[in-house]
Amino acid sequence: MMTKEDYLKQYKNYQSMRDNVAKDPYRLHYHLMPPTGFLNDPNGLCQNHGTYHIYFQYTPFDCGWGTKLWGHYTTQDMITFKQEEPFLFPDQQADRDGVYSGSAFIENNTIHYFYTGNVKLMDRDDYDYIQNGREQNTIHITSQDGYSLSKKEVVLTNHDYPADMSAHVRDPKIFQKGNDYYMVLGARSQNNKGCVLMYRSHDFIHFDYYNRIETPDKFGYMWECPDLFELDGQLILMVCPQGVEQIAYDYANVYQTGYYPINFDFDNNTYQLGEFKELDRGFDIYAPQSFIDEKGRRIQLSWMGIPDASYHNQPTISHDWQHALTMPRVLSYQDNQIVQQPLEELKQLRKSSLTTSLQDFNQHCPTCICYEMKVEFDNDQEFNINIRDDVQFIYQNNVLTLSLGESGCGRTNRSVQLNEITDFTIYSDTSSIEIFVNGGKEVFTTRVYSQTLQQKVHINSHNNGQVHFYELSGYH
Ligand code: FRU
Repeated sequence: MMTKEDYLKQYKNYQSMRDNVAKDPYRLHYHLMPPTGFLNDPNGLCQNHGTYHIYFQYTPFDCGWGTKLWGHYTTQDMITFKQEEPFLFPDQQADRDGVYSGSAFIENNTIHYFYTGNVKLMDRDDYDYIQNGREQNTIHITSQDGYSLSKKEVVLTNHDYPADMSAHVRDPKIFQKGNDYYMVLGARSQNNKGCVLMYRSHDFIHFDYYNRIETPDKFGYMWECPDLFELDGQLILMVCPQGVEQIAYDYANVYQTGYYPINFDFDNNTYQLGEFKELDRGFDIYAPQSFIDEKGRRIQLSWMGIPDASYHNQPTISHDWQHALTMPRVLSYQDNQIVQQPLEELKQLRKSSLTTSLQDFNQHCPTCICYEMKVEFDNDQEFNINIRDDVQFIYQNNVLTLSLGESGCGRTNRSVQLNEITDFTIYSDTSSIEIFVNGGKEVFTTRVYSQTLQQKVHINSHNNGQVHFYELSGYH
């Protein structure tokens, strides 16, 4: 078990790892990445007395899937971030094999955190590891300031979950309705059907089983990282299903990330699920978590990566780090779907600006790698945009495709059928691209590793329209 003291001692000895990260040309400039080692899900997102806390699944001394801590960044302004000491360590019997994902909920000036304490009773490759080979403890801690923490209390353990659950139950998130707190947990039944378990509490100490959210027909064998929240009057269940077969352009990644609009009648404890929609069309998106900030915005961050996807060719591994978080995004619900937009604050990263007509753009485009580029079309025709090296963004026959070529390190194309494109905005960082299409109704989030890190965008299109191009500065 790694305690805080062990970590601090070991961290002092890892200057060479930090130097190696600092030398990596693919190190991101305006995205959160691990100081060293491996990062996955964002955890415990909240804003407390002005300070935003962004915790994350973290393996500091290993670039692979090792024992998890909670790493910690803070920010006042969402554009400059401070690396804090890790917040949670697997230092108890109840979380000895990893402090897994969890969330924060602020009530009466106290931050309540719930997370999964992972205890492995068997080997990962053993089938029983799925059915009963691990203990999944739901653990509660509190903090007044986001740094110090109370004693860890187990509020739910294996025998509190329904009898037909496998050993895979995790990733608690709180939703408040009236005076009740509902906890959602991602789960896999013994019949290998993904679902979400709901518990209800009045005091954050006792949690009673409330309901199970599932589809009539199986949609994957496991649902991870659920997030239940209200958005512009619509209740949303965000979730990451594993084990869904690809259908045409849909569900093309190894595991999925998306949401159901859900109507929940809390008086009668019944619900109806709408259609599942993918949150993102890119290669690297998982474990989104949202929170309401002090301005009342619903902000979401995700892991720019996916578990069990083949990342062995990722060049950052030789520089002692792997993965990153997405840019923070504001969510809204329009025309029966979620719309994602980058935070206003990111405009402060703009260094220089250029506005041209679409036809003149190629002559004027600066050479750079960190930029924001908005294209607005007056009419709607096909286009082919060379974003960098062999990375193309192509709209043809009502199909929009992001093609990574060699820069994808083994990954090739992702597409979506779209009948119209009015605009898109690309956020490019050294080794990531996030593209918000039609005001954020579709998004492509992807890591990319180009040969050259100084590039010009080239637009091939007969469309008329405008381009706004901003070089962006970074905070690291
Ligand atoms: C999702 C996930 C969670 C788990 C965590 C462990 O990426 O597998 O279900 O809590 O990562 O790091």
